[in-house]
Amino acid sequence: MTTSERAQFLSEMRQMLISIQGVMQGIATEDRTAIIEAARYSGNRMARATPQSLRDKLPMEFKQLGAPTHMLFEEIVIRAETDDMADIAEVAAQALANCAACHAQFRAD
Ligand code: HEC
Repeated sequence: MTTSERAQFLSEMRQMLISIQGVMQGIATEDRTAIIEAARYSGNRMARATPQSLRDKLPMEFKQLGAPTHMLFEEIVIRAETDDMADIAEVAAQALANCAACHAQFRAD
């Protein structure tokens, strides 16, 4: 990765942490709007914002874990409209499991 690609990559990571934090906070206060707003940042919008040059450098196994993680944020956006808080928390837990699984495997060198 180039220096600027790495900076953007890590900045998106920090955004995902803020996102999932906002989702958990929203679940705790049963604030559906807050959950939706927090989750939206890290869904398809972020996936699409990844530059092609960076995308081309990511290994297949990385993308196989990364893409579904963005999709889980989209799922939270949709489920936050109507689902029980416990069900939304379960999807958030799946997303967090992906964070942990990827961090155990990859470094941004
Ligand atoms: C597909 C792989 C992958 C997934 C999924 C993933 N990460 Fe990361 N993340 C990385 C890599 C690689 C690094 C860089 C680690 C390093 O080189 O030290 C990183 C770094 C980070 C950092 C540190 C950023 C910095 O400024 O140094 C944070 C915070 C982070 N991730 C949060 C998350 C959260 C929250 C999730 C889940 C919602 C998540 N990540 C999901 C691969 C992933």
